[in-house]
Amino acid sequence: MITLTPKTLSPFSFLCNPIPKHHSKYTIVTQYSDSSSKPTFNSNCESEFQTERGLKFDIGETFFRHESATGRDLGVLAAALYKRSKGKLRVLDALCGCGIRSLRYLIEAEADFVLANDANDDNRKVITENLSQVESSSGDDPRWAVTLSDANRIMTECYLKRDFFDLIDIDSFGSDSSFLRSAINALKLDGLLYVTSTDGFSSGGRRPQQTLAAYGAYVRPMPYSNELGLRMLIGGAVRVASVLGYRVTPLFSYYSYHGPIFRVMLRVNRGKLPDNRNYGFISYCHNCGSSQEYSWAELGRMSCPCSDSKVSKSLVVSGPLWTGPLHDTIYITEMLNLAGEWGWAGSGSGTDLDKLLNQMVAESDPRLPFGVHQVGRGGQPCESKFSTTQSRYVHP
Ligand SMILES: C[S@@+](CC[C@H](N)C(=O)[O-])C[C@H]1O[C@@H](n2cnc3c(N)ncnc32)[C@H](O)[C@@H]1O
Repeated sequence: MITLTPKTLSPFSFLCNPIPKHHSKYTIVTQYSDSSSKPTFNSNCESEFQTERGLKFDIGETFFRHESATGRDLGVLAAALYKRSKGKLRVLDALCGCGIRSLRYLIEAEADFVLANDANDDNRKVITENLSQVESSSGDDPRWAVTLSDANRIMTECYLKRDFFDLIDIDSFGSDSSFLRSAINALKLDGLLYVTSTDGFSSGGRRPQQTLAAYGAYVRPMPYSNELGLRMLIGGAVRVASVLGYRVTPLFSYYSYHGPIFRVMLRVNRGKLPDNRNYGFISYCHNCGSSQEYSWAELGRMSCPCSDSKVSKSLVVSGPLWTGPLHDTIYITEMLNLAGEWGWAGSGSGTDLDKLLNQMVAESDPRLPFGVHQVGRGGQPCESKFSTTQSRYVHP
């Protein structure tokens, strides 16, 4: 699903960067504001450009969505927390488009180094010009580099050179899970992997063969398809990581109806899931509207409590999927605190980001039943019709 966005019409110039604020050597043209990704016209330098969180950049002919600003905010907050706790941050922005994420990781999260990669050679000029706002080196160490290659190739080359990254951002199209393996290989232990799916048909249960191929999960139509999409994406990463001897833990999960976009930030460590915990099957009963979790050992013994029969015809089952919490309470609380520190959230700010992070904190409770996660609904209006068919479903 591709949306065309407004393109820059006139030549791009950084010569008109007026107001350096927090980071004196970088370009900050407006105050931070929520969802501030809007085209801006600067009459002094006769150039039209975009701003996001006060950073100015060009999009040229690249694929760019203003609506993805929240996903970028979340990535930057996680990256900044990582840098604070580890003291070092190297980011691989594997499908960077115009390089806006790379720019934000460099400036806002104060990444030591960002590798901005995109397969489209035509994006070279725009990416390089955008990143040129940041000094290209700090002493002898480069701050950023641009490559124009297939993401799998770049990540595999990094892995073979043992050039590992702290955070890898995979902002891909569709249900392309082919990047998971090379990304996990190129990641440092305890590193962060920010993955994407934009395939709403799959999470809606309309392409079970496709989800089986991409994420190893047979997904059937269920009322809370957006939550299922997030669980499918995490489950796919769990499966690939486990093949390589790693386990992944979701730090936050985010669904946005534009696209739609499913985004999950995962922490990757050595090990395997003990006894397939948090990785299993989810049922939905069309008769009573309830959902349950089933382990692998319970396959073949599934029946809904609303039915006397040993086999409930009213049950549909999807899986295997991630069945654990979609967010980590402590991590989200830290993100919320940092967002407050930066003026993006908190103290009655009423920003969308503030509401989203608070919602994530509320929904990080592992005892929550399936289908109640509002962040998995993303405000998509068409899902409200399911609210009466599921007893435990909560309306916004
Ligand atoms: C969703 S856009 C990226 C948007 C960007 N991350 C942002 O936040 O604005 C996906 C990008 O992936 C690039 N791309 C597609 N397939 C790729 C591949 N196999 N390897 C690297 N880049 C790829 C496209 O050229 C496109 O710029």
